[in-house]
Amino acid sequence: MKLAQGAEAIITREGNAVIKHRFEKKYRHPEIDKNLRKYRTRREYKILEKLEGLGFPATRKIDYDEDKGILKITFIKGPTVKEILHKNPKKLGREIGKKIAILHKCNIIHGDLTTSNMILDEEIKFIDFGLSFSSERDEDKAVDLHLIRQALESKHHKIWEECYKEVIEGYKGEYPEHKKVLKRLEIVEARGRNKH
Ligand SMILES: Nc1ncnc2c1ncn2[C@@H]1O[C@H](COP(=O)(O)OP(=O)(O)O)[C@@H](O)[C@H]1O
Ligand SMILES: [Mg+2]
Repeated sequence: MKLAQGAEAIITREGNAVIKHRFEKKYRHPEIDKNLRKYRTRREYKILEKLEGLGFPATRKIDYDEDKGILKITFIKGPTVKEILHKNPKKLGREIGKKIAILHKCNIIHGDLTTSNMILDEEIKFIDFGLSFSSERDEDKAVDLHLIRQALESKHHKIWEECYKEVIEGYKGEYPEHKKVLKRLEIVEARGRNKH
């Protein structure tokens, strides 16, 4: 069963598994395209491996075939946070912030923090680590926070402020070194404003 079709991949469900197939992009040079798909598939698999070791609430790896651009992961039942955030923006916001902090403490940057990339099972679980990477830099962590802010502003405009406030509170509570990241976030946001 087809779950989603993104710009990069087709997502299908097969029982308790989800297959993420990164398809060919005709406008890219074939060799470059193949390498990119290969690299992203492997990167997502490796990060899931790391998250599992940490016990972080996320989809779990099953298998991958980098030559085919196929990643097999566990299906998480439940709505995306996008669908249900309005029901409990503060509580869910706090949980999101706390979980982002856990990733950042481990120097994992999600890279695509949106409410479509989170599923509410017994707790919020993160998916879509295709753009994730390791970094110790406050800048990268600040950009990650800026991404979730932008996602909330654009997709949840009625509740985004109360929710985002809790994201930051949750983040602070979980991450002793939050101060320098939040300081950097001010710079990232000023930069964003200057662009417009
Ligand atoms: N492990 C999973 N369990 C349940 N649903 C999933 C899972 N992975 C992806 N999905 C669904 O498919 C959608 C797209 O998957 P995602 O990994 O975010 O790919 P894309 O890079 O195209 O955004 C998600 O927003 C979610 O609805
Ligand atoms: Mg996604």
